[in-house]
Amino acid sequence: MAFQSVKGFKDILPPESEAMTSLELAARDVLRAFGYREIRIPTLETRELFVKSVGETTDIVEKEMFQLEDAGGRHLVLRPEGTAGVVRAYLEHSLSQQGGRTKLFYIGSMFRAERPQKGRFREFEQIGLECFGNGHAAGDVEAILALSYVLDRAGLKGAYSIKLNNLGDEKPECRPAYRASLLAFFETVKDELCEHCRSRMARNPLRVLDCKGDGPKLKANPALPTLVPCGDCRTHFDTVKALLENESVAYELDGSLVRGLDYYTRTVFEFRSTDVGAQDAIAGGGRYDGLVKAMGGPETPAVGWAIGVERTRLAIAAKAHAEAPRGVDVYVAAQSDAAGLVGLAMGLLQSLRRQGRSAEGALFGHSLKAQLREADRLGARLAVIFGQEEFAGRTCLLKDMRVKDSQEVVAIADVLEKLNRTLGAMS
Ligand code: HAM
Repeated sequence: MAFQSVKGFKDILPPESEAMTSLELAARDVLRAFGYREIRIPTLETRELFVKSVGETTDIVEKEMFQLEDAGGRHLVLRPEGTAGVVRAYLEHSLSQQGGRTKLFYIGSMFRAERPQKGRFREFEQIGLECFGNGHAAGDVEAILALSYVLDRAGLKGAYSIKLNNLGDEKPECRPAYRASLLAFFETVKDELCEHCRSRMARNPLRVLDCKGDGPKLKANPALPTLVPCGDCRTHFDTVKALLENESVAYELDGSLVRGLDYYTRTVFEFRSTDVGAQDAIAGGGRYDGLVKAMGGPETPAVGWAIGVERTRLAIAAKAHAEAPRGVDVYVAAQSDAAGLVGLAMGLLQSLRRQGRSAEGALFGHSLKAQLREADRLGARLAVIFGQEEFAGRTCLLKDMRVKDSQEVVAIADVLEKLNRTLGAMS
């Protein structure tokens, strides 16, 4: 049997690959405007990095990491997310010593051994950003604005909702009190919980809410406690909400939004598509003021997010205004492969490509009919045909592929200029 890709891993073919590139380019543009610079981090990291940051009792670390051992017996994993690696790099290269804020973005594959389904893969791409050194609520709002600008630019304006929650901090009266009340609640419904949740609820009660089986049921239970934030966390969150309102960003509060990673403090958010099915979280993030210190660095507030590129693409496609992939500008055909015609066709193709026009053709040895079929398949807007008869008169034929039976005789000397003029008028 022929080889096949591994379950949950996929080939991305054109035009999907091109659509993903457009999304990346839109993100690069927006993030540059917000002052972010690109960081490229390794795909492979130590297992310990994610145990320390994402958290030992999270689904990601407990069940979803692709692990391997190198020749020296080191436990390595394919990165399941980008934040931990960026924090490691931030500390390893002493980026904090540059002073002020450090604003970094990344684009790349992440790996999670989840059960594959529509919108959920084992290798998927994230566009993510991390901002270090800004503890003010304005930092959270800037991050949320950057994310919504990227999605709007990608064609999703009006097609997502923003869920927002406050997870508090580690002051005893804040999240620790929330954990205690969650645990007390779980005790009352213990018999309904799966074995895994029963075993981790005392160690990390928040994570029980991530359970794919128990989580949705628990979140629908009106008796589920929500966090009562301490004064500082309340003020911070009130400012976030006020600044979002000031920017006319609509959001919905969701007290059960805890995110699946342990490092968050205070503001967390998720952007959900209103058009796709179960895997509707197209992006998520939040503040993580304790992580840099926990990883051995100085006290450093931070905030960030990541977009799931495949899910965002699904949402764009579902929104139907997904732009039809643009066909090639010009198809160049030749009636035969007589030397003169081949030379002319090749020359015109290269002149067009040098000008940045997309041009295809030169399918020599095939009938003119077969060449024009290819032009159709490629969605060509214009076709140029070099025919034997016209060649004698130093002319060629120009066809507008969108108009049936259109054909114009053009002098070979003028054809490049004529093509440029026609394409200019079309766009
Ligand atoms: P996350 O919510 O785990 O956050 O992932 C971000 C996005 O990646 C999700 O909203 C989703 O669109 C996409 N995603 C996650 N898992 C899959 C999957 N199996 N298949 C397809 N897409 C998926 C993080 O990873 C955090 N590091 C974000 C962050 C950055 N927080 C602070 N800074």
